[in-house]
Amino acid sequence: MTILIKPDLDDLSHAAVDLLVELGREAVADHGSFSIALSGGSTPRYLYSLLASPKYRNSIDWDAAELFIGDERNVPPDAPESNYRMVQEILSDPLGIKADRVIRWRTELEDVEKVAAEYQTVLIERLGADARFDMVLLGLGSDGHTASLFPRTPALHETKRLAVPNWVEGLNDYRLTITFPTINRAANVVFLAAGAEKAETVAQVIEGEFRPDILPAQGVNPKDGALYWLIDETAAASLKRGLP
Ligand code: 6PG
Repeated sequence: MTILIKPDLDDLSHAAVDLLVELGREAVADHGSFSIALSGGSTPRYLYSLLASPKYRNSIDWDAAELFIGDERNVPPDAPESNYRMVQEILSDPLGIKADRVIRWRTELEDVEKVAAEYQTVLIERLGADARFDMVLLGLGSDGHTASLFPRTPALHETKRLAVPNWVEGLNDYRLTITFPTINRAANVVFLAAGAEKAETVAQVIEGEFRPDILPAQGVNPKDGALYWLIDETAAASLKRGLP
């Protein structure tokens, strides 16, 4: 596990760009493509805007990249809270990445089982039977959730399917999410977390008692891959190992 602590979200996002560019180049050099599962939420928004900015947009061979939405809300793709819409507006549209290389959850199908089954089929079609991402980018909720793997929800115990609907009592709705089997098969998993409100959770996930049902982010443990924590100083404040 590599922990990178940066002073603030700006520095953290620049560090995330550097890592993403490095991993992307490695993947393209190794097998000619770069598959990345993107996180939703607000933390990665600045990172996505940097990747699409004139300064960095040519740092990655986007023609060789395939972007996947790692998890999604149970809303139409053009809804304000859609992760796909956020990625489209901030990253893929500005980069001119065609819609067929931004693999989303077709939530317009409405039947969440069908949506997840179709997404899993596409995952396997694009990544092969082992569905191994070159990189999975994850956020962290202050309740310890990651992707849409929320505490005490059924998807935490999924051991076979790569993508599932997940009923979240607290939201009184379904979410759609890749599962631990998919995340833990990835070559690289990168957590990006910032803000004082995440400090207690970051410390519990990284240093606390192993309770993945309560702290789902603890279930992320790539079997044959690298795990990175990119956190800003406010989110690192409760770590016992302290600041470098
Ligand atoms: C989502 C994300 C989710 C997010 C965390 C952190 O669909 O919202 O996939 O897992 O990463 O909730 O969100 P913030 O970055 O907004 O704190």
